[in-house]
Amino acid sequence: MPLPESFLEELRARTPLAALVGRRVRLERAGREWKGCCPFHNEKTPSFYVYDDHFHCFGCGAHGDAISYVMQTEGASFPEAVERLAGEAGLEVPRPAPAAAEAERARLALTEVLEAAAASFARRLHTPEGRAALAYLLGRGLTEETIASWSLGWSGEGRGALALELAGRGITPAQLVAAGVMKEGERGAVDFFFNRVMFPIRDGRGRMVSFGGRVLGEGQPKYLNGPETEIFAKRRTLFGLDRARAGVREGGTVIVVEGYLDVISLHGAGFTGAVAPLGTALTEEQLAALWRLAPRPVLCFDADAAGGRACLRAIERALPLLAPERSLEIALLPAGEDPDSLVRARGREGFEAVLAARRPLAEALYDQLRAGQSEDSPEARAGFLARIEQAAGCIADRALSREYLRTLRDRYFASRRGPRGRVADPWRRSAAPAAAARPRPDAAETERERGRVLTALLLACPALAAEVEEELARVRLSAACERLCAAIREWEPAPGMAGSAMLLAHLQARGLGSEAEQIRTMVALPPFGPDSAGLAEARWRWRDIMNQIERAALAVQLGEAQRRAADNPDDAGAWTRLPRLREEMLRAEQEDEPEPGAEARRKR
Ligand code: UTP
Ligand code: MN
Repeated sequence: MPLPESFLEELRARTPLAALVGRRVRLERAGREWKGCCPFHNEKTPSFYVYDDHFHCFGCGAHGDAISYVMQTEGASFPEAVERLAGEAGLEVPRPAPAAAEAERARLALTEVLEAAAASFARRLHTPEGRAALAYLLGRGLTEETIASWSLGWSGEGRGALALELAGRGITPAQLVAAGVMKEGERGAVDFFFNRVMFPIRDGRGRMVSFGGRVLGEGQPKYLNGPETEIFAKRRTLFGLDRARAGVREGGTVIVVEGYLDVISLHGAGFTGAVAPLGTALTEEQLAALWRLAPRPVLCFDADAAGGRACLRAIERALPLLAPERSLEIALLPAGEDPDSLVRARGREGFEAVLAARRPLAEALYDQLRAGQSEDSPEARAGFLARIEQAAGCIADRALSREYLRTLRDRYFASRRGPRGRVADPWRRSAAPAAAARPRPDAAETERERGRVLTALLLACPALAAEVEEELARVRLSAACERLCAAIREWEPAPGMAGSAMLLAHLQARGLGSEAEQIRTMVALPPFGPDSAGLAEARWRWRDIMNQIERAALAVQLGEAQRRAADNPDDAGAWTRLPRLREEMLRAEQEDEPEPGAEARRKR
């Protein structure tokens, strides 16, 4: 039930954001704003700014208002955060409209019916008729405590015993049908579950919404979920989500596994962020719920072919939704194990090791795309590159899409160079799990590296040299790159001989052959065609590097301005400079041009 925007505005206006943030973060004045170390990533020097009505971190990009701050720091849902802030601000949250209140009452009623059914199933597990089910659960390594904590139960044989028992509490068969534990048969309502071990399913707030049932022995289907009801939609539900929300607040990693028992075992072993979808591939709704908990939930798949397919499907579903702060990581299990069997065989450490070996999404994507390719022919290579483009083109976030394309391609070209190539393995730089913990690359080295890429671009596409001459003059280059660029500029190819092989001959004649070769080995670039498309792509890559250089320069200026302003709190000029620089910086970040061809690909 949406709240009126006017109320939310008033709530934001009445919540002093700096005071709220100040409870967790040490803030200091920075002119009219406040700044401190960002609570959303690890940092030693403050880049987290708190304004009147919003916060922004110039380090990690975290951004939001008071409500989203409470949601992000406390794992609260939107209504919960609103409720809390309203309480503190002395505001009354507007009561839902009557229809919504009615729906809420109906939900309450269904939840109560389900709770009653769960209690009945749990009681049955400990009667003689439930003996085999209890033995099964104990045999799978669950303790009595765990069984009670998850309210596991036994459905009974399915002759209407549940309805009979609950009738004593005023619950009608019609209510049981609405709750999804009975269904309409030819002669009235009949049990939906029978001969099954029962797993209550709860929503993110811990309210019971349905059951999953596992057949004892060999029956089919092995697992069965309750039908969709007013309060249960399979695609929106994750088993264990309510507990994972609490677990995450205590530092648990969000882990997505396949089955109920995997979730239960992992929680038992201390992995309190484990959840599972209900027997289907991850949906967009489930991904959204996961991202509310963590920026990079870990998907944990079997190492077999089916696990690989599931992995690829999950990645495909996630790609369009990815953003800098919304990704996934992928962990692969040893062959033949699932999380449940692994924890039982090798304990906490066993699964710890699987988690520690998890990889970033881009890397897993690369391997999954590559897995299908057995032969190494020009056709296969072109096909592979096309698949890379297609996958990266699925990412709606433009800047990220381009980064993916570049990373995947670089990875491919690096792999084709083989061990003798001096190309740094692109994963070496990007695969470290905690971006924040990574040491900052040395600025001078970064600049030299960018200079090398620019030089390599001119080597691969000399036609570009004329139009970028002025820009190039502003870039600080190493002596070798300087010499190469100068030689490229003065090269005047004979008509029709403009290829880069001819250029190489020209450079060799000038004694620059080995320098050219060295740059080409250090920087893996795709070959650019001699046509206008090749030039366009080279131009785009050039722009991209120049943008990075401009941004780096701006970041340095911004840092200096911040320092100067902090040192001279009374210098108004220093303070007015800051927001302007920040804006310029944000603009530079948004300025990225689409890569040539990207539009066409998306339309396909
Ligand atoms: P599987 O059918 O692969 O079960 O479903 P499994 O892991 O081999 O089962 P066990 O280990 O013998 O018990 C995988 C998981 O998907 C969920 C269940 O949690 C199951 O463990 N599932 C499957 C559902 O929730 N609903 C379904 O309809 C099917
Ligand atoms: Mn299993």
